[in-house]
Amino acid sequence: MMNEVKAIRWFPVLTLDDLWEGEMIDVDVEGEKVLLIHLAGEKIVAYQGICPHQEILLADGELKDDILTCTAHRWQFDAGTGEGVNPKNCQLYRYEVKVEDEQVFVGFPEGETRRYNRCTAQ
Ligand code: FES
Repeated sequence: MMNEVKAIRWFPVLTLDDLWEGEMIDVDVEGEKVLLIHLAGEKIVAYQGICPHQEILLADGELKDDILTCTAHRWQFDAGTGEGVNPKNCQLYRYEVKVEDEQVFVGFPEGETRRYNRCTAQ
């Protein structure tokens, strides 16, 4: 059986000059808050922009040693994978990302309407 390959709608959001290594920023894409992080080695990742705990912007938090910490209640996430570090039972929704000629694009898989995870405190 072949795996179904979802088509992706790409949106240009910023250039590499707008987001230096070690920085993060939130952008609006089609009305959604998306968090972009520039990791070491020219790697850009994108996650849901709102904390899965409560309605707080993750971009207002801290990024240190590849750990993203929400400013509100200090939940922490692995910036490289979006996995919860504390608490562990929480995964950030991860968007597709591509970079072409310094332009960064965020991708929405066609037909996927829920691009947001919620978690409760353990
Ligand atoms: S809103 Fe982010 S940890 Fe509570």
